[in-house]
Amino acid sequence: MPKHTNLRIAITGANGFVAKNVRNYLHNKGIELIGIARTNFQNYKSEIKLISSEFKEQNLLSKLKTCNALIHLIGSGRQSSYADYESVNVEITTKIVELCKKAKIKKIVYISGLGVSKDSTLGYFISKFKAEQQIIKSGLDYTIFRSSYIIGNGDPLTKNLNRQIKKGLIIIPGSGKYNIQPIFVNDVANVIWKAVISKKFSNKILDLVGPEKVSFNEFVKVFNNKSKTKIQNIDLEKVYYKALHNSDSEYGPDDLSILVGDFAGNYKKLKNLAGFEFRKYREVLHSSSVS
Ligand SMILES: NC(=O)c1ccc[n+]([C@@H]2O[C@H](COP(=O)([O-])OP(=O)(O)OC[C@H]3O[C@@H](n4cnc5c(N)ncnc54)[C@H](OP(=O)(O)O)[C@@H]3O)[C@@H](O)[C@H]2O)c1
Repeated sequence: MPKHTNLRIAITGANGFVAKNVRNYLHNKGIELIGIARTNFQNYKSEIKLISSEFKEQNLLSKLKTCNALIHLIGSGRQSSYADYESVNVEITTKIVELCKKAKIKKIVYISGLGVSKDSTLGYFISKFKAEQQIIKSGLDYTIFRSSYIIGNGDPLTKNLNRQIKKGLIIIPGSGKYNIQPIFVNDVANVIWKAVISKKFSNKILDLVGPEKVSFNEFVKVFNNKSKTKIQNIDLEKVYYKALHNSDSEYGPDDLSILVGDFAGNYKKLKNLAGFEFRKYREVLHSSSVS
């Protein structure tokens, strides 16, 4: 890799929650950015903006040829008849990998899901596994992060809980005793940056998890500390029924599977490679970083 200030990094899904935070982090480091999104977005003065939904070579290749790394942040955890997992998570990743190879970009960083493996049975996880395989077999230097819930300003879980608070009731599916391992989005941006510049992250699949496992019950309780909204554990069968009958339900079918799946990751390994301590979820929730 050239000197940090001479690096140019492309980021797909530039409008998304993680991408916005990563772009902000890298911009503050003085890194030249190329943001790619399917619709218009607010770019930094120094950032090249590329709008593309088809990822056609002729529109992107000449710009991408100048990049040292690409951070692929397009993905979806809820599908519909318009956009299913195969088309968003697998096919777009395949296109992006091909573009990286043609543009001779050396490094790709991808966010997969915590719990993904070759033995996955959940459609979302299977699509992420297939996307991982596209990246691994590409021959590019890769870092794949299998992520738990990423928390910070504008994260999907916070948005969901805030929507429920507005309605006056927070629903916890089932017992709520299953655990999550939230990670702060600034720490995610920092570790992605490390993955781009450090050989220690070369060709690795790593869990992207915070320092603590916490039951969903406890997480929601801490989250709800200020609003004191009523919290109710609702029978899983009922929540699942709503998820299947209402595309606008608080929790989608796959959200429920991921929650109940109780997936945990290896924080120690991540911390040792990254060389810094990650924020604890309580500190993040109590600071102004989540709203
Ligand atoms: N947030 C988490 O807790 C978490 C946990 C595990 C894994 N991840 C993974 O991390 C990545 C970033 O997540 P995020 O939280 O930032 O999600 P997000 O806010 O929903 O951003 C996802 C991005 O993907 C883009 N996208 C979705 N469908 C697309 C399509 N058909 N064509 C082109 N672009 C499309 C979205 O574009 P628009 O803005 O135009 O819709 C958006 O920019 C995803 O791969 C996600 O699966 C996130």
